[in-house]
Amino acid sequence: MIRIALYPGSFDPITRGHEDLARRSLHFADRVIVAIAGNATKTPTFTLEERVELIREVLQDEPRIEVRSFDGLLADFARAVKANVVVRGLRAVSDFEYEFQMALMNRQLNDDLETVFLVPALHLTYLSSSLVREVARLGGDVTEFVHPAVLAAFKHKAR
Ligand code: PNS
Repeated sequence: MIRIALYPGSFDPITRGHEDLARRSLHFADRVIVAIAGNATKTPTFTLEERVELIREVLQDEPRIEVRSFDGLLADFARAVKANVVVRGLRAVSDFEYEFQMALMNRQLNDDLETVFLVPALHLTYLSSSLVREVARLGGDVTEFVHPAVLAAFKHKAR
């Protein structure tokens, strides 16, 4: 059986934390699909197309990772791409309630889908796209937290 893991999110933008989890997922999956939800964020900093392009660039060295966007329910997209597993990161206890709700709802909607939670690398544990966005917007240095392609995209937006 080929194990296809779906790693969904808003990825506005992809951080080193997301990158870490996408690569870690390859330890147990044959293929990983990074799935960007088109309708998750109302006013994203980066357009859907920009987010797809950035993730492709960041993970281009890994042929077993594919980047897709999707509309509608994750549970339906998982069915369409024959994914068996949804991967989500758990950083702190504060993530747990929302993640637990989502995992149960996704199982309700697609009983063939298991959610697995991965713990990020310690130095990336307190990282989030929203924090990175805010720091970048206010002129702070986010070099450590994102791939150079994302850094360049932030600089381009700020011009
Ligand atoms: O990175 P995020 O914003 O925490 O990701 C949330 C995401 C995109 C995984 C979630 O909102 C999602 O799955 N959206 C697709 C629509 C859907 O299936 N909603 C019901 C989830 S139980």
